[in-house]
Amino acid sequence: MRAKARQRELSSYARPMGAPVKFTTATFASVAHLSPAQQAISLGCSIRTVQRHYAAQRDTTAPPPTILDPASGSRMFYFDPQDSRVIFGDIRSESHLLSDGRTLDIRPDLEMDFRALPFADGSFRLVIFDPPHLLHAGGKSWLARKYGRLGRDTWRDDLRRGFNECFRVLSVHGVLVFKWNQIQIPTSEVLTLAGRVPVIGHRSGRRSGTHWMLFMK
Ligand SMILES: C[S@@+](CC[C@H](N)C(=O)[O-])C[C@H]1O[C@@H](n2cnc3c(N)ncnc32)[C@H](O)[C@@H]1O
Repeated sequence: MRAKARQRELSSYARPMGAPVKFTTATFASVAHLSPAQQAISLGCSIRTVQRHYAAQRDTTAPPPTILDPASGSRMFYFDPQDSRVIFGDIRSESHLLSDGRTLDIRPDLEMDFRALPFADGSFRLVIFDPPHLLHAGGKSWLARKYGRLGRDTWRDDLRRGFNECFRVLSVHGVLVFKWNQIQIPTSEVLTLAGRVPVIGHRSGRRSGTHWMLFMK
């Protein structure tokens, strides 16, 4: 009896197949504390729907960009992937058709190399640094296409130069947000390349393998 009541309760939440869903600002406000991907899961919609909502709220009178993301990839972790406050950079510009039919677009505002950034010292108040974290991934694999790959012999030097450049283009008291997944290389080892100690850090992900850290110049 109790099981049947539970089933009835659950089915009352279910949306008939194909019925359009109208998400309101209040809907998004209720999940605003979650990341875009978590919002999509929680609302049962696509990440594109979430991103479209935030894009619609974009302030078109916003001041020029003050944030740099020199390795922004497909901009997955952005609430608004066209956020006008951000300069989106990457070393490559390319599109791939994934096996599930979706496309993966890496379309930076500007192609750049985080080892030699084309900006003057102290240009940004916030830099977001999410470099590739994989040494081993098949060249044509989904993972390599999405996240890029580290050079086997050069990665230490590449990341050290990346950190140096991120700190160089930050203004005094500017903030660097650094993301690292330690599935192949421990976070502690990568931190030695930063040359500075983060102010705070947080572990996330199913196995706490992704670390978010915040540095201040
Ligand atoms: C982990 S992914 C970034 C994912 C991104 N944060 C997102 O939300 O989708 C790392 C990106 O760094 C880029 N990359 C690799 N080497 C680079 C370099 N030297 N300079 C700039 N970007 C680089 C890769 O092409 C890849 O797109």
